[in-house]
Amino acid sequence: MKISASFLGVPNIASTLRRLNVTDVDYIHVDVMDGKYVKNKTLPFSEYSTIPNYTRKRLDVHLMVKSPLKMIDDYANLNVEFISVHLDINDKIEKIIERCHLYGMKVGIAINPKDDITKVYPYLSKIDLVLVMSVEPGLPGQEFIKSTLSKINMLKEEIKKQGVKTLISVDGGVTLDNVKYLRDVDIIVSGSTITKSPDFQDTITKLRG
Ligand code: DX5
Ligand code: ZN
Repeated sequence: MKISASFLGVPNIASTLRRLNVTDVDYIHVDVMDGKYVKNKTLPFSEYSTIPNYTRKRLDVHLMVKSPLKMIDDYANLNVEFISVHLDINDKIEKIIERCHLYGMKVGIAINPKDDITKVYPYLSKIDLVLVMSVEPGLPGQEFIKSTLSKINMLKEEIKKQGVKTLISVDGGVTLDNVKYLRDVDIIVSGSTITKSPDFQDTITKLRG
C-alpha cells in the first residue's frame, strides 16, 4: 500500500511540502478545486506550479473541476504521476485519457460516494487508477463513509474479472483507526491525519501498519 499525502487546508503549503519531502511518503496528493465542481476554490496553477520547488515527490493530482481538459497541459509540466478527474464534468472522458497518456501521465477517474461504482467499469481497461472517494469532495477532515468499503470490494472483483491492472486509491477520512480496512488497496490518500500530526514520518509509518 502506497501513501499519498494531501496538503488541503494546511496553513502553510510550502513548509508542509518541505516537511513531507523528508518523509518516505510515496506521493503528494494535490487537490484542485474550481469553485464550480465543488464550492471551494484552491490556489491557481500559477501558485501550484511552485510545488516542485518544495518537494521532489511525484504528484498525484486530483482535479475537482468542471473543465479539467484545459488544465492538463499545465500540470504536464510538473512532476506528475497521476491525474484524476471526476465523471460528471464538461469534457469528454476519452479526451482526458488521451491527453494525459500523450504526456506519459497516468490517468484516474474519481468516483463520489453517491456515484454507482459500476459507472467506472467501462473505463477500467483504458485508465490507470480509480480514485474512490470516501468523503464528499470539497473539504479535508471529514468522516470516512463506511459504505465505501463494499464499493471497493465490488471494484476489486470487477478488476479481477476484466483481467486489468487498474489501481485503486481511496481518498478522504482515512485515520489511524480505519486504515486497517484499507490494507489491500493500492494507494491511500491521507490529509489531516498526517498534516495535523506533530511527527509526519511517525504517522506515515503507523498508517503503513
Ligand atoms: C476531499 C479531498 C481529499 C481530502 C483528504 O475533497 O479530495 O483529498 O482533502 O483529506 P482528509 O484525509 O483530511 O480527509
Ligand atoms: Zn483528493
